[in-house]
Amino acid sequence: MGRPRVLSGVQPTGALHLGNWLGAIRNWVDLQHDNDTFFCVVDLHAVTVPHQPDRLAEDTLSTAALYLACGLDPAQSTVFVQSHVKAHSELCWLLNCVTPLNWLERMIQFKEKAVKQGDNVSVGLLDYPVLMAADILLYDADLVPVGEDQKQHLELARDIAQQRINARFGSEDQPLLQVPKPLIMREGARVMSLTDGRNKMSKSDPNDNSRITLLDPPALITKKIKRAKTDPQMGLEFSNPDRPETDNLLGLYALLSGKGRTAAAAECAEMGWGTFKPLLAEAAVSALEPIQSRYNELMEDRAELENVLKQGRDRAEGVATATVDRVRKAMGFLAT
Ligand code: TYM
Repeated sequence: MGRPRVLSGVQPTGALHLGNWLGAIRNWVDLQHDNDTFFCVVDLHAVTVPHQPDRLAEDTLSTAALYLACGLDPAQSTVFVQSHVKAHSELCWLLNCVTPLNWLERMIQFKEKAVKQGDNVSVGLLDYPVLMAADILLYDADLVPVGEDQKQHLELARDIAQQRINARFGSEDQPLLQVPKPLIMREGARVMSLTDGRNKMSKSDPNDNSRITLLDPPALITKKIKRAKTDPQMGLEFSNPDRPETDNLLGLYALLSGKGRTAAAAECAEMGWGTFKPLLAEAAVSALEPIQSRYNELMEDRAELENVLKQGRDRAEGVATATVDRVRKAMGFLAT
C-alpha cells in the first residue's frame, strides 16, 4: 500500500482570502509530508461564471505562487494547472453522461450562484460539481481537504464514483475508481464575512470590506478589521448564536495568533472592541507578512514558477491519463 492520495484546488478568481487559507490551504501544507499530494489551480472552474480573459492567466500564475508562498513544496507536492491536463475535461464528459440531471439541480452552491447570474446561467455552472468530481477521481484521491461549503460536492463525487461508475462498469473485487472522503478542519472550515457574520467570507461578495485577502497590505487589513461589523456587547465569546460576528472574529484571532481557542477566549472574555480590534489586526498582519514576502519573491522569477507548473503537469498527466484510459476501456470505447 502506498501513501494516501490527496487532491484539492482553488479557483483563480481574484486574490485568495483568509477563508481559502484557513479552511483549505493551511491543511494542505500539513498533509504534504505524509501523503501523495496533488494541488491544482482550477482555472476551468473559474470560467463557469463570466470572467475577464485578460486576467485569467495572471490570476492562475498568482494563485500558484500563493500556494507555494503558503508553504506547498514542489519537491513534496504536485502543483499544476487544471486546464493543462486535458484528462480533466475528458473524464468530466464521461461522468456527465452517467450523472442524473436532478443530482446537479439540487446542489446548494449552484442554486446560490444561479440566483446571482439571473438569466445568464451557463451549462458550465450547473456542471461545476461534475468537473470537480473528475478532478478528484482522476487521481484516485483518498482524501480531499476542503472547507465546509464543499461537503455537498464531495458527497456528489462519492455517489458518482460508487453508484454510477463502479457499480455499472467495475467489478466488485476491482472498483474502477477510488471513493474519496472529505477532510474538513475542525477550526477555520467556515470563515465568515467581516460585514455579516451569518454569511461566509467569499470572493464573489461585491463588498471588498467583507474579506481580507492574503495580499492585502497591512494598512488595508487594519482598516477592514476596524470597519468589521460588531455588536454593542462588551467581551468576546464563542458559540453565542446571537453574536455571530463575535464568534467569527474571535475564531480568526485564535487561529491567526496561533494561541488556540481556549487561550484566546480567556484573553478576550472581558475585552472591549476598541482593544480587541487592533490585537486582531496585528495578528492578521503578522500571520500574512511571511506569505506576502515569499509571494513577492516568487512572482519575480516567473520562469521558475512556470517550470514548477510544467513539472507538476507532467506528473499529474501520467496519473490522470492512466485513469481516464481505464474508464474509457471499462465503458467500452475503441482503443486509440
Ligand atoms: P473555491 O475557490 O471557492 O474555494 C477554495 C477552498 O477554500 C474553501 N473556502 C473556505 N473555507 C473556509 N471558510 C470560507 N469562507 C471559505 N471559502 C472558501 C473551500 O471550501 C475550498 O476548499 N469547488 C472548489 C474548487 C475545486 C476543488 C476541486 C476542491 C475544484 N475542483 C477538487 C477540491 C477538489 C472551490 O470551492 O473552490
